[in-house]
Amino acid sequence: MRHTSFAPGKIIVSGEYAVVFGEPGLALPAPLGIRATFVEDAKKDHLDIKWLGIKGNAEWDLYLRRITGLLEQGRSPFRGTLTVMNQLPLQKGLGSSTALVIAVSRVLIGKGKEAEALAVENELNTGHSGIDFAVIWQSCPIYFRKGQTPIPLKEKILDPRHAVLIDTGKPKETTPELVAMVKEKADDPRIRQAIKTIGQCTERLRKGEDSRTVFRDHHRAQAALGVVPKAIQTMIADIERLGGAAKVTGAGGKTGGGGMVLAIHKNPDLITPVVRRNGYALLPLSAALNP
Ligand code: MEV
Repeated sequence: MRHTSFAPGKIIVSGEYAVVFGEPGLALPAPLGIRATFVEDAKKDHLDIKWLGIKGNAEWDLYLRRITGLLEQGRSPFRGTLTVMNQLPLQKGLGSSTALVIAVSRVLIGKGKEAEALAVENELNTGHSGIDFAVIWQSCPIYFRKGQTPIPLKEKILDPRHAVLIDTGKPKETTPELVAMVKEKADDPRIRQAIKTIGQCTERLRKGEDSRTVFRDHHRAQAALGVVPKAIQTMIADIERLGGAAKVTGAGGKTGGGGMVLAIHKNPDLITPVVRRNGYALLPLSAALNP
């Protein structure tokens, strides 16, 4: 018996970290994702795993084994071959770790097992707000508030013709580490203010305010949280000088890269030289965002 599944990545437009503290956020499914195939084979006494496409290091192999191990609890062992075909850059803010949980749980235990998949996410991605899980599970744009049913969005919150993704490299920290770091500082009035500002950015975007003005405030608030490395702040300042705006999408980073930056400009081609000059790459995903 052969089973297949798919889970997209995610693009958070607004709300990073603020959603952990109950503020609202907006997120879209990414046009790329993870496809999983499970070929059952009763003759085998174990699960073989193949990883195709964008591969991770040994830690990712271990992470995938932990997912299958958690899903197996209370069930008879999975026998056969699980193949993961990954199109998502790993650990760069596009939801690869949650997409892997969802694609693998859908293919191994069935498509409607949301609670079981969420239990795996809770175990592996500690401290999360649920926004990644919600948008990837629903695979449609959502307005999210922790603990509430996500609202599917009808209105357009981002014009794909004017948006690009910039790959600034992997952060040295994991998302659970970054979330824990921000939580530790949450009593600092400047951090509290940044969290509030980010929540307000979500509402401003939803009301239709120009995304360039909103992104500029959102980016400054993320920088105040300490999750936007200095080199990325410099590049974003260059983009703003050209009349655009940009913000890290996803958890960002403290040291190393900041994952993906979501940039907007009336003419995105004008951003390309700035991106190159700062030593970063435009992700091919921008082609998918700009069909
Ligand atoms: C990570 O994609 C988004 C964060 O807000 C963490 C979370 O909400 O779980 C940084």
